[in-house]
Amino acid sequence: MDTILILDFGGQTTQLIGRRIRDFGVYSEIAPGDTDISEVLHDGVKGIILSGSPHSSWDDGTPKPDPAVLACGLPVLGICYGFHQLTLADDGEVKPLPHREYGRSGVRHLSANSLFKGIPEEFLSWMSHGDSVTVPGKNYELIAQSENGIPAAAAHINKPLWGVQFHPEVSHCEYGVELLENFACGICGAGKEWTLEKYVDQETLKLRRKAADKDVLLLISGGVDSTVAAALLLNALPHEKIWLMYVDTGMMRKGESDEVAENLRSLGAENLLLIDARERFLKPLDGIEDPEEKRRIIGDTFIRVQEEEVARLLPEGYLLAQGTLYTDLIESGQGVGNKAQVIKSHHNVGTPLVQAKRAAGELIEPLEKLYKDEVRRLGELLGVPSAIVRRHPFPGPGLAIRILSDVTEEKLSILREADALYISELRERGLYDRIWQAFSVLLPVRSVGVTGDTRDYGYVLGLRAVVSLDGMTADVFDFPTKDLLEISAKITNTVKEIGRVVYDISSKPPATIEWE
Ligand code: XMP
Repeated sequence: MDTILILDFGGQTTQLIGRRIRDFGVYSEIAPGDTDISEVLHDGVKGIILSGSPHSSWDDGTPKPDPAVLACGLPVLGICYGFHQLTLADDGEVKPLPHREYGRSGVRHLSANSLFKGIPEEFLSWMSHGDSVTVPGKNYELIAQSENGIPAAAAHINKPLWGVQFHPEVSHCEYGVELLENFACGICGAGKEWTLEKYVDQETLKLRRKAADKDVLLLISGGVDSTVAAALLLNALPHEKIWLMYVDTGMMRKGESDEVAENLRSLGAENLLLIDARERFLKPLDGIEDPEEKRRIIGDTFIRVQEEEVARLLPEGYLLAQGTLYTDLIESGQGVGNKAQVIKSHHNVGTPLVQAKRAAGELIEPLEKLYKDEVRRLGELLGVPSAIVRRHPFPGPGLAIRILSDVTEEKLSILREADALYISELRERGLYDRIWQAFSVLLPVRSVGVTGDTRDYGYVLGLRAVVSLDGMTADVFDFPTKDLLEISAKITNTVKEIGRVVYDISSKPPATIEWE
């Protein structure tokens, strides 16, 4: 399949480059920035993009593209740091200027160039750079300039090499998608061959070949990814060969475990392994207040329960499937080697069981090339109920990290009731799908209140609702006040242990989405 290869130097928006390109139908792949290019080039690669980076080209040991990238004859587009690398490779000059550019900046292109085809002469770009090209490479022509007089784009005079200082992948950059499309389709000649229907056909063939007559085990969390992975397996393989294991940690939301089982049955699952491990998680959490300690206990217990149950229930030699996404691999540092900043360690990427299965060639990850929004669309294609496809993310440690301080049955039950009310109100009011993630947090403080003629000390419940693209950054959802007040009243009237409700108005950064 025609592919645009993105070499990642650790830029915050590298994944966005990949997604934008796929959005207009061209397949894209991401590889580590300093990868030996011969390892990742294949017949389908039509062009290469060098990403931005948190590094300055002047830092010691910064990742550099393999020189063969510029010699291989394929079109190359360098973005920000990628532009700097192209410039330095051709004796140009890159310097940290006193005038840094962050955010919107006007750009004017200076000559007709295929990169700017159909784009107005002046447009608003999105900049984020400390270093700037001060003198383009000696064989480069300056083709655009920023309003601050800084080189914004350059093209090699006789090779298919381009560099831009701004970030066309960022949604605030006007005509960014058009520029990427000009590069991918116009300059590289990549065909728009990427469709999810094709992906299903490809993966089905792969799954059938790999599974043959083996049993396949998939660990289910109940979220979008594992459910869509289950749907893909059920679509491709005989149902009696598929084992779906769901561990109830006791940290799930109200009615969640029953719902998960029901949904999987509706997709045709026959072998559901529903493991009730609530006691095994609650006991070691007793009295634990430190969030990281809670996470560790839950992660370790999860691994232990999973391994014991698998050993008990499945024959040797089964294949392990999991709903790992492209972004999971990238974030955990596996997709782009050690150059990726590891944002959080996903416990589905590196458990001992997963590692052993990977080493034995018995791991299958049928969503590993997909982004979250593609997984949602794939789910719809495969008939996964829309309530699951559009579900907000839910963290592995579950309610344990939404109960600040120690976790008890009583607090779990209060939080479950309050959160179920909050979420059902959001759905009824048509707000749920406008929010990226919403949840409630039980705070470790009691505050005074009056009910009737008595003074009470009730729990304080924090409500969170954020909008985001990928959870890396998030804005506070602009909650209609009337809805917020009505929901607050409903919660305090219904859940008697809660005396006060507050709304979290912090964006990420500086706050995180979860409170712990
Ligand atoms: P933060 O709180 O870091 O969250 O802004 C970003 C996204 O990650 C989820 N999250 C987790 N997911 N295990 C998970 O599986 C965790 O320990 C964890 N902590 C946060 C969070 O819900 C949000 O979607």
